[in-house]
Amino acid sequence: MDRIRLVGGNELHGEIPISGAKNAALPLMIASLLTDEPLVLQNVPRLADVKQLERILENHGVDIAVHGRRRGEDEGVGQRMTFHAADIVDTTAPYELVSKMRASFWVIGPLLARCHEARVSLPGGCAIGTRPVDLFLFGLKALGAEIDIDGGYVLAKAPKGGLVGARITFPKVSVGATHTLLMAASLAKGTTILENAAQEPEITNVAECLVAMGAKITGIGTRTLTIEGVDRLHGATVDVIPDRIETGTFAMAAAMTGGNVLLKGAHAEHLKAALDILSQTGADVTSEEGGIRVYRNGNGIQPVDVDTDPFPGFPTDLQAQFMALMTMSTGTSRIRETIFENRYMHVAELARFGADISVDGQLATIRGKPQLRGAQVMATDLRASVSLVIAGLAARGETTVNRIYHLDRGFERLEEKLSRCGAEIERVSG
Ligand code: UD1
Repeated sequence: MDRIRLVGGNELHGEIPISGAKNAALPLMIASLLTDEPLVLQNVPRLADVKQLERILENHGVDIAVHGRRRGEDEGVGQRMTFHAADIVDTTAPYELVSKMRASFWVIGPLLARCHEARVSLPGGCAIGTRPVDLFLFGLKALGAEIDIDGGYVLAKAPKGGLVGARITFPKVSVGATHTLLMAASLAKGTTILENAAQEPEITNVAECLVAMGAKITGIGTRTLTIEGVDRLHGATVDVIPDRIETGTFAMAAAMTGGNVLLKGAHAEHLKAALDILSQTGADVTSEEGGIRVYRNGNGIQPVDVDTDPFPGFPTDLQAQFMALMTMSTGTSRIRETIFENRYMHVAELARFGADISVDGQLATIRGKPQLRGAQVMATDLRASVSLVIAGLAARGETTVNRIYHLDRGFERLEEKLSRCGAEIERVSG
C-alpha cells in the first residue's frame, strides 16, 4: 500500500494550480444520465472517485470518452470528457459499486426521472457519521415516487406518466438531496419548488449545467430553487468549477508552514468564510487576477473559533485542515462540527504529532503549541488525511502518512503540487 513520506519545516513558495472540483464533477457526470445526447465536461480532475463513478455510469450504459489535451494546454489542465447515455441499459446501481462512494447513490434522481424506475444500493463512502438517505426519499416521494427498501436496495418507481412537480421543504440542508431532486425535477411534469435547498457553489455549477441542457430553473444560488419540468433535455458543454476545498487546503498549508503561494484559478467568492477565518489567524489573503494569494511572514498563528455550516458558512470539508493549523496557534481555539456527528477521527492522529486537542461531543478544543513533531500516522477519511499532510509539512522531522488511498479519492497530484512549492514530500509505493 502506498504511503506519503515527508520532512517538515519548509515554507511553501510558488504557484499551485487548482484542479476541477470533485464535488461538482461527480454530480455533473451523473447529470449525463438525463439525456440521450452527449454531455461534455471540461476540467474534470483525475481522481479515484471520478474513476469509480465512471464504472457506475458505464454499468448504466453511458459511453465515456476522454479527449486529448488541446494545443497549448499544460498538463495541469483537467480532463475533457464526454458522457453519452444514448440508452440506459440497466437501472440498477449495484452494491459492489455504490458502497465505495456515497455520491453514486445520487444516480437515483436521473434514473427515476428518465426511466421511471431505479434500483440503487444504499450508499457507503467516508465513515464520518451515519449519513442516511431519508431526505432523498422524502423528496422523491413528494414527486410521486413509490419507494421500497429491500435487501439493502432502494427500489423507486415513478407514477404512470413520470414524476410530478411538488413543493418540497427540506427539514435539513443536504447537498446530495438537493443535487438529486434538482435533476429529478428537471424532467418531472409541472413545477417543483425546493425550499431550504443547499446553495453550495457545486449546486450552482450543476444547476447551470442543467439550464445549458434545456432545464428551466430559477433561484440558482439561493435557498429556494424553482424548476419548471421539461419533456427532454439535450447535450451541452460545461466547465467544472475550481475545487474550493483543495484551494482552502493549500491556503491552510501555506498559513501553517509560512511562505507565499498563489492558488491559481481559485475563486475567492467560493470560500469567503474560510478565507476570512484564515485572515483572522494572521495570514495575508488577497484575491488577484489569476487566483488567491496566501502569505504568512512567520508571525504567530492567532487562535480563532469556528463552527462548520452549510454554504456560505465555513465548510465541514475544511474542518480537519483548519484544526491542523490551530494545533500550532499561540492560544486556545474551539471548533464546533455541526454537519456530521463523527468527523473528528483525525484528532487521535493529530495527537501523534504532539497536538493537544480534546473533544466533547461536537466541540473540539485545541490548545496550540509552538512546534509539532513528525510522526507515523494513518489516513482515516478523505479530508482528515490531508490534515495530516498539512501537519506533517509544518512539523519538525519526518512524517509517514499511511493508507493514502483516501487522499487519491479527492486530491489530484498532491505531492507534486506541494513539492513544486518547496515541500519535501514523496510517495512511497508498496
Ligand atoms: C456533500 C459533499 C461532502 C460534504 C457534505 C457537506 C459531495 C460529493 N460530498 O456530501 O464532501 O462534506 O456535502 O457539505 O458533494 N443527511 C440526512 N439525511 C439525508 C442526507 C443527509 O440526515 O438524506 C445529513 C447527513 O448525515 C449530514 C448532513 O445531512 O449530517 C449533510 O449531508 P449532505 O449535505 O447530504 O452531505 P453529502 O451530500 O453526502
